[in-house]
Amino acid sequence: MKVLFIGDIDAKPGRQATTALLPDIRKHYACDLVIANVENVSHGKGVTRKALDDIREAGVDVFTSGNHVWDKPEVFEIFNDPNYVLLRPANYPHGTAGSGAKIIPLGDKKLLLINLQGRVFMHENLDDPFRTLEKLLKQYEKDVPDAIIVDFHAEVTSEKRAFGFFADGKVTAVVGTHTHVPTADAQILPKGTAYVTDLGMVGPKHAVLGVDKEIIMRQFLTQLPQRFETSEDPLQIFCSVLIEINTATKLAKHIERVDREVKL
Ligand SMILES: [Fe+2]
Ligand SMILES: [Fe+2]
Repeated sequence: MKVLFIGDIDAKPGRQATTALLPDIRKHYACDLVIANVENVSHGKGVTRKALDDIREAGVDVFTSGNHVWDKPEVFEIFNDPNYVLLRPANYPHGTAGSGAKIIPLGDKKLLLINLQGRVFMHENLDDPFRTLEKLLKQYEKDVPDAIIVDFHAEVTSEKRAFGFFADGKVTAVVGTHTHVPTADAQILPKGTAYVTDLGMVGPKHAVLGVDKEIIMRQFLTQLPQRFETSEDPLQIFCSVLIEINTATKLAKHIERVDREVKL
């Protein structure tokens, strides 16, 4: 089983880059499933049906997210719409709208997709993601998935690395999201779990996490709040990883970065 996991798709340029590049990538690698983090897919913050439809048409099957998923009110309707598989981090307080884990059927196989959020330098006071993972794995013990993939949406590399080793051997893959900066450490951990600290993003290259670089420089120079606008740089980066899964062992055979650039 081959799964492509795409980093945070950012606003319209990110959606257009996905449309330009994903159909060929999906075909070239013969992907069984394409997952993308979509917390920034609509105007850089939050999700709308239209934005999800754009990237679904390009070949993204299911969606994970993070702290920005709440930024457009439409998300609450999307969580209840059976036409969309959109996860939010599972460690939000009990009773929060949406779900943080879901079984994805794939022919005669099934994949458990889990979304969690880190706590270091994040503003939300969430439950412990480590223990939430343990609880979820126990919950799905009887439903026995053929693969388990976790999107760990977190800020700092130490929390992500520690989480990866904690999950090693228990899940098929842990991919980091949120920083929008791709890391060069895609690897198979000692007990067989595929891991990368951050997938990176899809969107403007000469920008700060997708935002116009001048605005962010001004923010650092003046320490005054700024209105964020998506960068108009025509050059887009597309960051993802390909994970090859051994469904007999539920562990990973291989992980590699699949990164591209496109000018819109
Ligand atoms: Fe993001
Ligand atoms: Fe985020």
